[in-house]
Amino acid sequence: MIDDEPALAMTPASTTGFAVHKGRGAFNAAFFGVMGPYIEWNVRAHKRRVFADLPPTVVELGSGIGPNLRWMTPGSTLVAVEPNVPMHRRLRAAAARHGVNLDLRERVAEHTGLPNRSVDCVISSLVLCTVADPAAVLAEVRRILRPGGTYRFVEHIAAPAGTPTRILQRALRRPWAWTFEGCSCERDLAVPLRAAGFCRVDIQPYRLHSPFVSFNTQIAGVAHA
Ligand SMILES: C[S@@+](CC[C@H](N)C(=O)[O-])C[C@H]1O[C@@H](n2cnc3c(N)ncnc32)[C@H](O)[C@@H]1O
Repeated sequence: MIDDEPALAMTPASTTGFAVHKGRGAFNAAFFGVMGPYIEWNVRAHKRRVFADLPPTVVELGSGIGPNLRWMTPGSTLVAVEPNVPMHRRLRAAAARHGVNLDLRERVAEHTGLPNRSVDCVISSLVLCTVADPAAVLAEVRRILRPGGTYRFVEHIAAPAGTPTRILQRALRRPWAWTFEGCSCERDLAVPLRAAGFCRVDIQPYRLHSPFVSFNTQIAGVAHA
């Protein structure tokens, strides 16, 4: 539940720090349209665990074209913080298909504009790899979550140093970031998650076996405010 519903109090829209790239944005919307089901099939067990029993109102950072709507109950509300306009048409269509009320905010996760301690649940998948400043995003999550609220995440991270996957991630970092609009395959996201001031952070590391080798090392978990 969020305070001030339905006219959720907001500061003026902010997309500072995010540049929409029409061509690559459209490419990525189409890419996730085609490859999304395969990605979701790979991570389904982890999402089932961390996205179980979502409350009736959820804030999602970087919703993309809406793969996480399937974890929400029809009739519930998703406040989607997604600055990438080329994703919006598919996201709206997905929300309609799933019967979820979509409150779409063209903003960055660093500046959601939501009030302090107003939110019970924030989720993200494959987003902390792409935001300009993960620590700033996590500070924002802490700011908007009520005590007892949860931040639930599924993210890809850097492989352990010296492993073949890590060497490949290093080699691919530039074309990967160019193609996927700033996505880094070299972040150790467990460190900022544990440093963000949550009461408790449960993190499970795991490995996928997909052809997207540099994205196969992942974490999923829940941080408690
Ligand atoms: C790899 S996609 C993942 C999309 C979706 N969450 C999924 O699991 O398919 C990364 C998403 O993060 C969004 N994004 C990038 N920078 C962002 C920011 N600063 N704030 C919020 N979203 C951001 C992108 O527009 C994109 O939709």
